[in-house]
Amino acid sequence: MERSQWGTRAGFIMAAVGSAVGLGNIWRFPYVAFENGGGAFFIPYLFALLTAGIPILILEFTIGHKYRGSAPLSFFRMGGKKLEWLGWWAVFVSFVISVYYAVIIAWAMRYTIFSFNQAWGEDTQDFLFNEFLQLTVSPGQTGGIVWGVFIPLVLVWVITLGILLAGVKKGIELANRIFIPTLVVIFLAVVIRAVTLDGALVGLEAFFQPDFGAIMDPSVWVAAYGHIFFSLSVAFAIMITYSSYLPKKSDITNNAFITGFANSSFELLAGIGVFAALGFMASQQGVEVSEVATAGVGLAFVVFPQIINEFPGFNGLFGALFFLSLTLAGLTSLMSITETYVAGFSEKFGISRVKSVVFGGGAAALISILFATQGGLFFLDLADYFINQFGVAAIGLVEVVLIVWVFRKADTLKAHANEISDIQLGGWWKFSLGIITPIVLGYMMFGLLKLNILQEFETETGNYEGYSNMFTLSGGVAVAAAAIIFGILFSAAKWHKEQGEYDERN
Ligand code: PFF
Repeated sequence: MERSQWGTRAGFIMAAVGSAVGLGNIWRFPYVAFENGGGAFFIPYLFALLTAGIPILILEFTIGHKYRGSAPLSFFRMGGKKLEWLGWWAVFVSFVISVYYAVIIAWAMRYTIFSFNQAWGEDTQDFLFNEFLQLTVSPGQTGGIVWGVFIPLVLVWVITLGILLAGVKKGIELANRIFIPTLVVIFLAVVIRAVTLDGALVGLEAFFQPDFGAIMDPSVWVAAYGHIFFSLSVAFAIMITYSSYLPKKSDITNNAFITGFANSSFELLAGIGVFAALGFMASQQGVEVSEVATAGVGLAFVVFPQIINEFPGFNGLFGALFFLSLTLAGLTSLMSITETYVAGFSEKFGISRVKSVVFGGGAAALISILFATQGGLFFLDLADYFINQFGVAAIGLVEVVLIVWVFRKADTLKAHANEISDIQLGGWWKFSLGIITPIVLGYMMFGLLKLNILQEFETETGNYEGYSNMFTLSGGVAVAAAAIIFGILFSAAKWHKEQGEYDERN
């Protein structure tokens, strides 16, 4: 079977940027930067981008391009079953992320509609938890289905799986070529409006105010590395899969730089917009910016609706544009993460894209219904916490150590990238991958293990109280462990025969 291909270079870049630009850019980056030194955070951030983010992006683009397969197949071709499991591990972590990420997009979709008449009323927090999510059960219980979430969730999956069914070029590429420019235009409109609000400057000052002392704090560096991983969608199996659809003649290194810098620009823009809006709200309420600054669900679905309530005009329009931005940014990321297992299953078992979308995507959609129940938010929070802490960064660490040190593939891959790319990779690349990244990630993992997991978990998610220890620990460990176990089980299964042989000289 002919391998699917991107139609144009711009199409591939849009798709890669579409994956990278997601909820993380809008609701995570601004607060992470603010909390970790403000203006001074740009130093560790840029360092992490240049020594981990972009080098790993180049690595993954090269792997996908050279071995022409989804993550499991590419790793299998590179190092046999001893490496294949790593691809599946990433694929299963991606699977888990996709099931709850879809639900957040569904909320954003619903909030786009709520925006028009600010259906959330005055008490936006009460509205979110009690009226919209109907969170009335204890952690671990599901309660009934929340139809207000379920219906947009079905829509999210219909759109995503519909696009994947249409294929790489006619589906993913086309969708990104429409969604990404649209996202940029509407998000710019929101940001321009935000920076012209009263009090915007106070917010921007709070955001950019450098605390140079923070640079001496190792946890700030860990935050920068952690964020870069998440933000660039590396170690998710995504970028390997996407680059496996590149034509033979493609620039890799340049594409990675473009993707990395585009993602960071979007993130910076989001930081400016979010903090301008927070500054506006803080001055309306006569409080400090730090009192209203937050991230995640609280920022998007509690604080932003409040900001929209206080807007001087066109409240409905700007609210809808903001939530539409979240929806579009989320959908393009969801497509990319779903493609990792659609491609993985179809290659491993030799089934068509259609079957793989129906079974793989269908399974994800079914499981995601769990998060559309009354207890859904508790499950979502749990899966997100454990997968992020023990998923992506851990995969990144194992990936660089195995490839550079155990399988010693760095030079071959570097030669491959240099042969087809404009920008030539030098010692910086291998040094970053082989030395800097493992040291920082190793330190990060060690620190995590040392921490009392439960204690940290309670403080991290203190906003939803009442987790029982059994629920958190058993649920979380089960999710994280299941990803590795599935990874090993899947690599034990036989490849559909066409995929077996690979000539290294390709
Ligand atoms: N880079 C994405 C983001 O910033 O949101 C990370 C991501 C998350 C990608 C979830 C894909 C995904 F499904």
